[in-house]
Amino acid sequence: MDFQLTEEQLMLRDTCRQLAENDLKPKAAEYDRTHEFPWEHVKKLGELGIMGIVYPEEYNGAGMDYVSYAIAVEEISRGCASTGVIVSAHNSLCLSPIYYFGSEDIKKRILSRLTTGEWIGCFGITEPNAGSDAAGTTATAELKNGKWVLNGTKNFITNGGVASVAVVTAVTQKGIGSKGLSFFLIEKGTPGFSVGKVEDKLGICASSTTELVFDNCEIPEGNILGKQGDGFKIAMHTLDGGRVGIAAQALGIAQAALDEALAYAKERKQFGKSISSFQAIQWMLADMATEIEAARLLVYQAANYMNTGDRQRYSKYCAMAKLFASEMSHRVTHKAIQIFGGYGYCREYPVERFYRDARITEIYEGTSEIQRLVIANNLLKD
Ligand code: CAA
Repeated sequence: MDFQLTEEQLMLRDTCRQLAENDLKPKAAEYDRTHEFPWEHVKKLGELGIMGIVYPEEYNGAGMDYVSYAIAVEEISRGCASTGVIVSAHNSLCLSPIYYFGSEDIKKRILSRLTTGEWIGCFGITEPNAGSDAAGTTATAELKNGKWVLNGTKNFITNGGVASVAVVTAVTQKGIGSKGLSFFLIEKGTPGFSVGKVEDKLGICASSTTELVFDNCEIPEGNILGKQGDGFKIAMHTLDGGRVGIAAQALGIAQAALDEALAYAKERKQFGKSISSFQAIQWMLADMATEIEAARLLVYQAANYMNTGDRQRYSKYCAMAKLFASEMSHRVTHKAIQIFGGYGYCREYPVERFYRDARITEIYEGTSEIQRLVIANNLLKD
C-alpha cells in the first residue's frame, strides 16, 4: 500500500492544521470550561467543505476521499477534540445513512443542507437499556394513516441538542429482534420530537450530548431510510465505517498531547537540566511518538479500504484502527500528564483536558470490547 499522501490531501492537511492552530486551539479550553457549543468552529469548517467532505458535489459535498476525511478529523481534533467529534458524528453517522439509504428527494432537500454545515445532524441508536446491545431498541414506529408514529427515548446522542436532523432506529415489528428494526429521519420542529436531558460529561465538553424524546411524533411515510426491517443492518453499515472518524479523533488528541509534552520537556528544568535530557522522559516521548505513528498507519489503512468500498475489509480495519487509536490515546495522554508532573494535573495546562477527552474514544461508537468482538467475528469469517 502506498502511504504517500496526494497533493490534494497534503493541502487539506495544511489547511486544517492552520485552522486548528489559529482558530480552534486558542478557544478549546474556554469552550471546555463553559460547555458552550463551538458554532464559530462549525461555521468555518462548513465554509471549507469539511461538513460534507466525502459526499458528492451534486449534494453540495466536497467529493473528497476517506483518507482526506481522516486527515481532517485528526487535525481538527488536535486543535479541539469536541469539534472533532461534532464533525465525525455529523459526517459519518448522520450523513452516511442518508446518502446510502435516503430517497432522492431527501438527499436533495436535506443532505444538501447538511453537507454545507448549514444544518447539523445526529444519529440515535443508543437507549437507556440498549448500548452495546444495539438490537435491544425499544423505541417504536407504527404506520398509521400514511404516517410513521414514533415513541421512545434515545440517549447519549452526540449533536443531539443542536441537530436540525436526526436519524434513528425504532422497532417496526416486535418479537423478531434485530430484523424488526427500521431506520427513520426526523426533522427538528416536528411535533412530538424534543431534546431531553443534557449530559454533563468528563470530557469533550463543548459537544452536545443529549436525550432525544419521541412522543407520538408523526413523520412522513417517505422518511424511512432503506426498507422496513433493514434498520439494524443500516446502523451496522453506518458504524462499520464511522469508526474511522473516532480513530482519527483519538489520534489527533494523542498528537496534541505529544506536541505539548515535547515542548514542555525541553523547557522544564530540574536538577539543573532540561528534563528532556533524562532518559526516563526520552523513553516516554519515544513510546508516545511510535504508538501515534502506528495508529496513524492503521487509520490511513482503514480509510483506504473505505475508499475501495470493500465492506468486510473496512469493517475489520476500522474496528482495529478505533481500538488501537483510542487505547493508544489513553496511554499517550496519561504519559503527557506524567511528563508535566503536578502542572499536568491542573487546568492551566491543556494535557488534563486531552486525558479527559481521550477517554470517551474507548467508549462511543462501540466500546473497545465491542471492537474486539467485531474484529474477532471478521477474523472467524475470513
Ligand atoms: N453489517 C451488516 N450486517 C450485520 C453486521 C454488520 N456489521 N453485524 C451484524 N449484522 C447482521 C448479522 O449478519 C445478522 O443478520 P442475520 O440474522 O441475517 O444473519 C444480524 O445483523 C444480527 O447480527 P448479530 O446477531 O451478530 O448481532 P448482535 O445483536 O449480536 O450485535 C454487535 C452485534 C456488533 C454487538 C452490535 O450490536 C454492535 O455493533 N453494538 C455496538 C453498538 C455501538 O457501536 N453503539 C455506539 C452508538 S453510536 C455512538 O456512540 C455515537 C456517538 O456518540 C459518537
